[in-house]
Amino acid sequence: IDIKTLRNATGGVITIDPGYKNTGSCESAITFLDGEKGILRYRGYSIEELAEKADFLEVAYLLIFGELPTHEQLNKFEADIKERSVVDDDIKKILDAFPKSAHPMGVLSSLTSALTAFYPSSVDVKSEEAMYNAIVRILAKFPILVAWTMRKKQGLPLDYGDKNLGYVENVLKMMFKSPNSEYEQNPILVNALDKLLILHADHEQNCSTSTVRIAGSSHAGLFVSLASGISALWGPLHGGANQAVLEMLEAIKEDGGDTKKYMAKAKDKNDPFRLMGFGHRVYKNFDPRAKIIKVAADEVLGDLGVEDPILDIAKGLEQEALKDPYFVDRKLYPNVDFYSGIIYRAMGIPVEMFTVMFALGRLPGWIAQWREMRMRNEPIGRPRQLYIGETSREFKSIDKR
Ligand code: ACO
Repeated sequence: IDIKTLRNATGGVITIDPGYKNTGSCESAITFLDGEKGILRYRGYSIEELAEKADFLEVAYLLIFGELPTHEQLNKFEADIKERSVVDDDIKKILDAFPKSAHPMGVLSSLTSALTAFYPSSVDVKSEEAMYNAIVRILAKFPILVAWTMRKKQGLPLDYGDKNLGYVENVLKMMFKSPNSEYEQNPILVNALDKLLILHADHEQNCSTSTVRIAGSSHAGLFVSLASGISALWGPLHGGANQAVLEMLEAIKEDGGDTKKYMAKAKDKNDPFRLMGFGHRVYKNFDPRAKIIKVAADEVLGDLGVEDPILDIAKGLEQEALKDPYFVDRKLYPNVDFYSGIIYRAMGIPVEMFTVMFALGRLPGWIAQWREMRMRNEPIGRPRQLYIGETSREFKSIDKR
């Protein structure tokens, strides 16, 4: 039934659905998610298989263009990205203007928006070719912005990376290269980051993706639509949860490691404390990404020889939650962010950068959803409301109030 027929039939009735818990905003062919069964598939391929057999750029191509690339397609995609792997030097001046204390997510969102000023042809994307150019341009420049937000905070020199390296290797080098020595790639870290980025690459109509789609539905450009998504991702109820999880685990450790005390706090309805990294709007079964990441976390810590008391606290909380009726009844299982922070920490990534890493992974998903929305010529997103304020009032001049 089309919306006009519905509106006429219902006399303009509006459905109220706070948090859009039961509202579909679009038709999409990108990501399939069954929250009850714990299934996640990109374009029909299971997340388990993609995480094991594909690399991040292949998955990015799949999400954006709908098919796994052939060798030829992947080589061209990679070459097109590499060709654009620089940013205008004036971006450094903008970066310099931020205080060192600035949160990297705010910096990343601002710089992503600022790119529009330097590459205005990315805004008006009427042809498929213009759209393709905007897409490869942002895939090329975003990792540079990611690395720079971290290095700025650490007061380290900024680098454009190395075009001979793979996408993920290059990110790591740009982030971690010391000014005084050569950077040596660690295949364990490359593999772990590749997997993490794949697991985060798309998750259908979540908060940040919906934000990208709704911002882009006004035909605002790709980069500013992405910047809106980055802002939405920042919040602790969404992507910011990975930072919040680590901070919570640290706080529990500092407080003596009593996980039972924090379980009780999480269940106390008079206490605003929530167990960060638990629960999900859609998964009412185990988050399939969390399953893969849990194994990866064990592998990375084992391979790197990291003994981390934080991991013991995490495991303790998980074990208690899995048998606690409060969590079991509400189907609150660990989500992807419960474990990702532990891996990022073992890789030497600062806690404030965790959500930035999530944004790097989610980039292809946001792009794919934005592209789908534009190619399907979707109407501008504009929800309605139920007005509950004052009705008609008479204006009183300021001296009579
Ligand atoms: N700790 C304790 N109780 C919780 C938690 C939690 N982490 N999550 C949900 N609950 C409880 C709620 O208090 C509520 O209880 P009630 O039925 O007695 O009122 C019930 O479970 C349902 O919770 P809602 O908030 O209604 O669920 P919603 O779908 O709106 O929220 C969310 C999902 C935001 C993820 C929530 O579970 C949460 O805040 N989790 C912690 C933050 C987090 O980890 N976010 C990352 C999500 S994954 C991602 O964005 C990649």
